[in-house]
Amino acid sequence: MSEISDFRSDTVTRPTPEMRRAMAEAVVGDDVLGDDPTVIMLEALAADTMGKEAGLFVPSGTMGNSVAVKVWTRELEEVIVEARSHIYNMESTHLTFISRVTPRTITSRRGAMDPDEVERNIRTPSVHSPRTSLICLENTHNSWSGAVIPLDNFRGLREVADRHGLRIHLDGARLFNAAAASGVSVREYAGLADSVMFCLSKGLSAPVGSMLVGPRDFIDTARRVRKALGGGMRQAGVLAAPGIIALTGMTKRLGEDHGRAKRLAAGIAGLPGVSLDPAAIETNILIFGFSHPRLTCAGLLDGLDKKRVLALAIAGGVRLVTHKDVDDEDVDRAVAAFREILI
Ligand SMILES: Cc1ncc(COP(=O)(O)O)c(C=O)c1O
Repeated sequence: MSEISDFRSDTVTRPTPEMRRAMAEAVVGDDVLGDDPTVIMLEALAADTMGKEAGLFVPSGTMGNSVAVKVWTRELEEVIVEARSHIYNMESTHLTFISRVTPRTITSRRGAMDPDEVERNIRTPSVHSPRTSLICLENTHNSWSGAVIPLDNFRGLREVADRHGLRIHLDGARLFNAAAASGVSVREYAGLADSVMFCLSKGLSAPVGSMLVGPRDFIDTARRVRKALGGGMRQAGVLAAPGIIALTGMTKRLGEDHGRAKRLAAGIAGLPGVSLDPAAIETNILIFGFSHPRLTCAGLLDGLDKKRVLALAIAGGVRLVTHKDVDDEDVDRAVAAFREILI
């Protein structure tokens, strides 16, 4: 058990001792000049893992998504996004700020937009309105409590995109969680998108970094956009080295995190104030509504904090995330803390 059971996010994971050793020993060059061998290796590995032509190492998931949208779109265009998506809600408005496109939000069933509804929302080209050019998907879906988007839904959206000549960008920050939970390979999901961003620094426990993968000419332009946004990194091999371990070693253990999230959900569902269906917890993110006769969300988090359990308040509720650095005893401590505070 850790000194503090930190369930705020899977981004709090610390690099493993093996990652720290790999950082110390990494062979490096100057990645902006294109000769850092460890970055080159990571980018090739990322592309191959997703079945794409080329990859780009970026400092964050937000930069990966913003670069992708910038490359796929032009001004006067519109991008279809799911209403609760991270790209739309949590990335400081880069759709408008960087790409100067308008977002068109579509509501969904647990993150899966209905392909017919998406099709109805594609604009008819006209002098009055923006041209729809891109659909953004998210898998797993963070704000839908880590829901896995079914492959069939991807297929339906791909058909719509192809009928209308649109691109699909997948925010796969936690795509390996989706694969671990569903048994569908990351390649199958990636094969239905034109580009994919996935994060090394969340459940996969690397200290920094995300990958953007797609066609070679897309990545060539993405590399220029990354530079323009200040994301060119020099001896970046020290960061790519733990990324390689994340990608080759850490993907296999995500099922453990999912098991712990389910156990945590079973332990707190039904407690006073907690609105949570444990059957809806598919991966490592647990979100529940909170309405208690004598406690606010802030009061609950404060009580948990005093018992050395950290969680996050989100609109109308609370979020807990399992990851490498919380074990079964951390889950037991959290369940006990919830019971003591709420009953
Ligand atoms: C679904 C999703 N996409 C993108 C991001 C952005 O990643 P970063 O925090 O590395 O910018 C996050 C971060 O939590 C996320 O949950």
